[in-house]
This record gives sequence, structure tokens and C-alpha cells, in this order.
Amino acid sequence: MSLAETARPAAAGEPGTLVEVQGLDRVFDLSRPWLNRLIERRGRIRLTAVDGVDFAIRRGETYALVGESGSGKSTIAKMVVGLLPPSGGSVTIGGTDVWAGRGRDEQRRMRRRIQMIFQDPFASLNPRWRVEAIVAEPIKVFDLVPDAGRRRERVGELLSLVGLDPRDGQKFPHEFSGGQRQRIAIARALASEPEFIVCDEPTSALDVSVQAQVLNLLRDLQKRLGLTYLFISHNLAVVRHVATRVGVLYLGRLVEEAPARALFAEPLHPYTRMLLEAVPDIDMEGIERQSIAGEIPNPINPPRGCHFHPRCPHAMDRCRAEVPPRYAVGEAGVRCFLYDPDAT
Ligand SMILES: Nc1ncnc2c1ncn2[C@@H]1O[C@H](COP(=O)(O)OP(=O)(O)O)[C@@H](O)[C@H]1O
Ligand SMILES: [Mg+2]
Repeated sequence: MSLAETARPAAAGEPGTLVEVQGLDRVFDLSRPWLNRLIERRGRIRLTAVDGVDFAIRRGETYALVGESGSGKSTIAKMVVGLLPPSGGSVTIGGTDVWAGRGRDEQRRMRRRIQMIFQDPFASLNPRWRVEAIVAEPIKVFDLVPDAGRRRERVGELLSLVGLDPRDGQKFPHEFSGGQRQRIAIARALASEPEFIVCDEPTSALDVSVQAQVLNLLRDLQKRLGLTYLFISHNLAVVRHVATRVGVLYLGRLVEEAPARALFAEPLHPYTRMLLEAVPDIDMEGIERQSIAGEIPNPINPPRGCHFHPRCPHAMDRCRAEVPPRYAVGEAGVRCFLYDPDAT
């Protein structure tokens, strides 16, 4: 394979692939109603939150999506699990298109196989329900254990699986700490026996000391149950502990994608380098330190060309005019003209 080849994501189309995301776009229309626009002589306002994102996740792996707040992580998560329709592109899970027209049975089967864990476990747990009812709900909805006694046993097993006491089922969410509540949310997610779980900043709201425990739990569960994760975080240090592959998002575009080890050993995109420099506990020997000024730009009016060029110490004229394609560098893909093999 020549370096010049603008490669597809590494795992795309291969037999081990569970999740495939291709050309995913999402535009939000923030315009005022048309009469206001007419009177105020204003045009439409569109925000491109996700712009041509491609990636693939192999079975049993953890694909981490990393990016600053507002880069489009949660929007991608919602489109992947079927909560928000894309403006363009496709998501397939186990060969079934999440968004293509399909029957109710197929939709139901699909929903059972995919679960999501959110940043704030308090918001995702019904405060008026006992934990037992919360965890049992997916079991009932998908009619997995019809017998009430057996169902209660199953809830006990799930609570043990996440490191809680089966008797905790009698308590209410407010009686638990943040980390314990996230364990309840995980038990609930596991209740439908999914194969794929999207974790959107699952530890970001927790104390540092508790974060590691929840990350370890997620990793143990992955091994025991053969789960596949899409793991979303703004924090590269967190991702380092869990990821098999990493995709770096900047203003809705995937700017770099690589096996986790390669990405941390040799970050390619100037933005990835900047993110890594912001991580305090990583050995950055051998990488020249540079502070990069500026904040993430307004996505309603993004910079032309490469979105990162206003913050990039290597920006060239070309970066201000053209959107870089994806260049293959070893096992990584990077959207940056520094890696154009045809450039002089
Ligand atoms: N429902 C919505 N309506 C309008 N804009 C939205 C909506 N959801 C997200 N956005 C915008 O899309 C961009 C990406 O948001 P999000 O996916 O939540 O980013 P992240 O999870 O990386 O912080 C942001 O600029 C955000 O303001
Ligand atoms: Mg988010």
C-alpha cells in the first residue's frame, strides 16, 4: 500500500467489524422562523456538528472518540445508537443499518443489542423508582425473563456483576454515591444483554479516585461479557486506560485515527499533539513542547480549509483554502497536509 493512498478506516468492511460509520453528517438548523427572517432580513443559520465522520469498531474492542467540548462527540453517539437521525451517511451494526427503513421487530432487536451510558447517572435514573425496578425495566421491556421471581434473581446477579449488593435493589438512587449510581446505570445497560455499549463521558462527573474504579469495572465487564464499546471522552488520559483505537475529533471532523498505542507513542496531527501536551501524567519526552494559542472556533462559522489552521503552528496557505483528505501513515489515518506524500 502506498503512502499516497487516502485510506479508508482500518477495520472497514472486515469480518471482525461490528460497527461501521460512514460519511456521517449532522447539521442543526438554528434559523428563526421564516417570517422573522423575512422581516429581519436574516438568512438561515446552520451549524454543522458532525462532518463526514468515518470509523469502524471491531468486536470486543474499545473505540475511543476524543475531542474538546462542542466537537460533536455526543451528537455522533446519539446517531450511532439511533436516538438522533443523521443528515447524511450511515451507521451499520452487525450488518444492519441503524437508520434505513426497517420493520418494528428488527428495530426492537437492534435496540436490545445497543445500550448507552451517560455522563450524569443521576439524570438517567428515575429518582422515584427503587434500583430493582430501574434495573429490571429493560428485562421487562424486551421480555427476557417473564417470571417475576426469576427476574428479581437476575437483577441481583446484575447488581453483583457491577460490584453492588443484591440488597441494594431495595434502595433509591439518591441513597448512593456518584460512583455507585454509575454502577447502577451500568447494571441497567447490561440488563438487556447488549453486545455494544456507547459510553458518553461515563466518568467525567465523578471524583478522580472513583473514575479509575468505574473504568476498571467497564474493562472487566468487557472481558467477561465480550462487549464492544464506543467510549467518548474529552480527556486523553482516561482514554489511554481503555482504548484499542482512538479517533480525534475537531469541530465535527475526525482529524486523526490510530491504534491507541501508536497514537500515544507518536501523535501525528498538530491538534492531537496539543491535546497530549495538555495531559499532565504522560511522558512527553522527545516531543517538542509548543503552546498553541486560541480556543475552539464557533461551529456556526468555522474556518475555511482545515478547521484547525487558526490554531496550528504549521499552517500553510493550502490549509486555509482546502480541506485535507485522509492520508494513511502506517496504521493511522490523518487529515493534515503535513502528511501529503506528494507535497514538496
Ligand atoms: N439539538 C441541538 N440543536 C442545536 N445545536 C446542537 C444540538 N445538539 C448539539 N448542538 C451543537 O452541536 C455541536 C456539537 O455538540 P455535542 O455533540 O454535544 O458536542 P460534545 O459532546 O463533543 O461536547 C455544538 O456546537 C452544539 O452546540
Ligand atoms: Mg457531549
